[in-house]
Amino acid sequence: MVVLISGTGSNMAALLDACRSPEYGAQVVAVGSDRPGAGGLEKAEEAGVPAFVVPFRDYADRSEWDTAMSERIADFEPDLVVSAGFMRILGPAVVGRHAAVNIHPALLPSFPGAHAVRDALAHGVRFTGTTIHFLDEGVDSGPIIDQVPVPVEDGDDEAALHERIKTVERRMLVDTVGELARRGWTVDGRHVRLGRTGPSPTDASETKETP
Ligand code: GAR
Repeated sequence: MVVLISGTGSNMAALLDACRSPEYGAQVVAVGSDRPGAGGLEKAEEAGVPAFVVPFRDYADRSEWDTAMSERIADFEPDLVVSAGFMRILGPAVVGRHAAVNIHPALLPSFPGAHAVRDALAHGVRFTGTTIHFLDEGVDSGPIIDQVPVPVEDGDDEAALHERIKTVERRMLVDTVGELARRGWTVDGRHVRLGRTGPSPTDASETKETP
């Protein structure tokens, strides 16, 4: 897999740790970012994993940047792209070419977008959480693979709540990516099933299977 990050990369680091065990069934072939200073890039290099940056400001518009990102990802021939704290919207050049999953720090479809934890706190929900989903061309709108709830505690601020979400998020990410790698997957409309056995062949046109 190619892992995409924009910041600290603690979720990426959890994946790198899991990949040390051969039984895990997946390998990180590269880590990519839109930000040259993303802290996670150094962690990747320390682990001996190639890192690349496709800075947004180097391209005339979103579509050119998206095409460049897709090409760079393709250089590593991944079976899966994992957006783990990647803070830009990936467009059709990436999601039309690569199977890609994203983690989001809220229980989608509640609180999509860049400020999910802040928005959940402001709304006064008692539970929020984390979601892993396949990417489509919308914002945090693709088919959901798994979710884990996290209670909001009295006195939580954005940083404290986000840290607790990230603790469960890392576990969910590692577990889910491992399952996808070992078992494959089938997407049938909004529904994701682990394993390569999909519905009957007559439904095949509705179904996307693992390559
Ligand atoms: C994670 O909580 C992830 O869900 C979130 O950024 C954090 C990255 O942490 N992603 C989004 O908000 C995407 N909309 P990390 O860099 O320590 O892995």
